[in-house]
Amino acid sequence: MIVARKKVKKIVIVNERCVAYINSLNTGNTPFLNELESTARENRVPIIRRETQTLLKFLLAAHKPKKILEIGAAVGFSSILMAEYSGEDTHITTIENYEKRIPIAKSNMELSGYKDKITLLTGNAEDILPTLEPYFDMVFIDAAKAQYPYYLEEAARLLKNGGIVAADNCLQDGDIIESKFAVTRRDRTIHKRMRDFLYKMNHDERFTSVILPLGDGVTLAVRN
Ligand SMILES: C[S@@+](CC[C@H](N)C(=O)[O-])C[C@H]1O[C@@H](n2cnc3c(N)ncnc32)[C@H](O)[C@@H]1O
Repeated sequence: MIVARKKVKKIVIVNERCVAYINSLNTGNTPFLNELESTARENRVPIIRRETQTLLKFLLAAHKPKKILEIGAAVGFSSILMAEYSGEDTHITTIENYEKRIPIAKSNMELSGYKDKITLLTGNAEDILPTLEPYFDMVFIDAAKAQYPYYLEEAARLLKNGGIVAADNCLQDGDIIESKFAVTRRDRTIHKRMRDFLYKMNHDERFTSVILPLGDGVTLAVRN
């Protein structure tokens, strides 16, 4: 028996023509990153969108972090991007637990020429984060969406005062504004945890934060 699936109307966070226009002004990345980006997209690896790439490049230029922690490396695209657009003395530590992606990330880091600037820690972020020592200047959260409230706690511990957190995908393609009954049962835990994360981030006195409707939604916060 074929069961008809209820079609859920996707919410567009930012007008699509507006996004296309903004991205048309984007001057792009290095040929290596462009190639890596298209291979990742062809293989359906979820890497950061163009708008988020621009935001990260802006943060690197403005904040000049020396120690960056990334949670969620995938095949290394965003960590290599951060290595490319940060100072020579910046180091990036990134975490990935998906065994199939780990060797690809390692190989990409080597091919990029930035393997000494990036440390890839393999395993579950939930096990690795408690083993890390403060202080980082920037934490980029881009792994398991249901774990964002926990990652925020670890970011608070690991960041120095004035350090920045950036968390991607926090508007969940617009699903975040829907009632839990409108999201598929499978996605309800993520929906609830992401709402908890956004509430916490905006009410936690340790942070001053802003939610940007950019890409899939990015939350930025400064550790007070
Ligand atoms: C959105 S992708 C990261 C994309 C990457 N930041 C980029 O833009 O190039 C999220 C990654 O986090 C990894 N991940 C999910 N949960 C994790 C966990 N608990 N610990 C470590 N990695 C995790 C996934 O396997 C996936 O590769």
